[in-house]
Amino acid sequence: MYCTKNLNNDLFWVGANDRRLSMFEGVYSVPRGVSYNSYILLDEKTILFDTVDKAVGKVFFENVTHVLGGRKLDYVVVQHMEPDHSATLAELILRYPDVTVVCNSKTETMIRQFFDFEFTLLVVSEGSTLVTGRHTLRFMMAPMVHWPEVMVTYDETDKTLFSADAFGTFGALSGAIFADEVDFDSDYMDEARRYYCNIVGKYGPQTEALLKKISTVEIRMICPLHGYVWRRNFSGYIDKYKKWSSYTPEETGVMIAYASVYGNTENIAEIIACRLADLGIKTEIFDVSVTPASEIVAAAFRYSHLIFASTTYNTGIFVTMEELLRDLVSHNIQNRTVAFVQNGSWAPASGKLMKEILGGCKNMAFIEETVTIKSALKDKQSSEIDKLVNAVAATIPKKIEPISGEVDTKAFFKLSYGLFVLTAREGEKDNGCIINTAEQLTSTPCRITIAVNKQNYTHDMIMRTGIFNVSVLTEEAPFGVFQNFGFKSGRDTDKFAGYEGAERTANGVMYTTKDTNAVMSGKVVGVHDYGTHTLFVAEVTEAKVLSAAPSVTYAYYFANIKPKPQPKPAEGKVWICKICGYVYDEAKEGVPFEKLPSDWVCPVCKHPKSDFELRGSEVKAGAAKSEAVKAETPKAEPAKPTINKVWVCSICGYVYDEAVEGVPFEKLPADWTCPLCKHPKSDFELQNN
Ligand code: FEO
Repeated sequence: MYCTKNLNNDLFWVGANDRRLSMFEGVYSVPRGVSYNSYILLDEKTILFDTVDKAVGKVFFENVTHVLGGRKLDYVVVQHMEPDHSATLAELILRYPDVTVVCNSKTETMIRQFFDFEFTLLVVSEGSTLVTGRHTLRFMMAPMVHWPEVMVTYDETDKTLFSADAFGTFGALSGAIFADEVDFDSDYMDEARRYYCNIVGKYGPQTEALLKKISTVEIRMICPLHGYVWRRNFSGYIDKYKKWSSYTPEETGVMIAYASVYGNTENIAEIIACRLADLGIKTEIFDVSVTPASEIVAAAFRYSHLIFASTTYNTGIFVTMEELLRDLVSHNIQNRTVAFVQNGSWAPASGKLMKEILGGCKNMAFIEETVTIKSALKDKQSSEIDKLVNAVAATIPKKIEPISGEVDTKAFFKLSYGLFVLTAREGEKDNGCIINTAEQLTSTPCRITIAVNKQNYTHDMIMRTGIFNVSVLTEEAPFGVFQNFGFKSGRDTDKFAGYEGAERTANGVMYTTKDTNAVMSGKVVGVHDYGTHTLFVAEVTEAKVLSAAPSVTYAYYFANIKPKPQPKPAEGKVWICKICGYVYDEAKEGVPFEKLPSDWVCPVCKHPKSDFELRGSEVKAGAAKSEAVKAETPKAEPAKPTINKVWVCSICGYVYDEAVEGVPFEKLPADWTCPLCKHPKSDFELQNN
């Protein structure tokens, strides 16, 4: 009998689960099974998005028949030709001979390679649209995510992204269809990571291109070909994809993989892990002869540091270790710090050979000291293990042990809907940013919450260290404090360099002493993802009152501190972005170009200030300018619409003039941020209303 799920008014899941499959693609173990997702949209026309693997064809066709309810099938959109999504296409065409196959030209070629049937065809390409009644479907090409013919489909009407293999996960569905119906982070993230790294991991740049493409559209639902459908809180999952596709470690920690025949190399791995753990470094150990390679590949994508320990076998690397290393290379692993341990009773050689295999990977930092053991580790070699452990630890920022101070509960009376300097420390790096949300949560135990925009570097530092300070600013705080902590990025600036009025609390983190009436130190005990922001719950380890000056409120800041939009000069210079042709007209912007902060970037292409040139200067400098740049630089200003609304950032006063920018403010992407202070679009106010 059919087994379908209704996703919204006219969209249905008609896929199926396979829990008997032991090896996906014949390579990847799937102990929790796998789902093959397929969707039907019931519009004026009926549209099926992909089919399923032949193993689950019976229930799939029952599902399709049930959802169609006697209607004919008008279109089948083929987004991916891998047989786990297309094996039942031939039977579909037999059952629904009038259906039109919607696909791109590469897919058409593959259909003809796999099958011999004839079919009605609608070939689409990048940006093609198909109106099916109420819905308009737009097709976006996603080559190599995970095959060359892959495309995704964006439903412009309901803002649904049919994402093909992207955002999929291993594991059969267990009744629920939406990711928010299960504890995805705890129960499925490991399988999502294992799926991405092993299936798509090799194609990071192509996945990044798809992420960039979909960032230009509003998405309300993501329907992948495997695993759960996402309808809310998926920005954290997209962030994971950004990390995985750019080969950025998710976590600071050490993955240790060992190959051991009689337990002596295993013993070394255990000792290394213990010593690293004693230094407060997270470790995870794998026996490569026992753990499926797909799990170890996923762990290698997760952790920042990798240690490989192998016995020497037939004068080479132990078989399973060599397979693992070649697997990692073929999945394009990069940006990791790597160390090796080799064992061998008469001619240890695996260390050098392991390094040779990983030597071709990009941006790998190899720890010089390869530890060599002959047969079994002896006490006298303990110092060599320490040397390796210390060399690894030296590349990992030390966690600060929070030292508690006195908690003066009167400090909490200073909290309001105000503005605060949030500070963090990681290793020798101090940083801070401005936040507007800090509240006391409970008094026993004494806890506070802070909400922090994920774009802030301070956010990332707190994620890694779990420690911060909140300094409560007063009405005396000049605009310069907000400029210093709010308008620069700590990624490339030392915000405390030359800053007068800062000290450290007992936890070692800086706080502001000037224009500040209280400070409280937090140790994170809870992290909650809310899309653009993370809500940190923290135990207060120290709190003190610094002055009686009133806390600055949001309203006070707007009325008295925030600069008003500056009067526009009668005439000004015009600067052109050499990269995208964006025009910065000083007369219209009201701020001379030279007065913009050094980290100001082009609002359109995000290239730095240094990529702008003064109009007129390009004529004089023409001889020195490359032909390539000239060719890319539009000669004319972008066409201006007949719009003239002016929007002002309520945080920093940045002026967005639609007539100058050429794009209506409402048309900017939802995740557009203020070019100056990086606050979200929602912090802008319409000025001429
Ligand atoms: Fe699930 Fe690339 O197929």
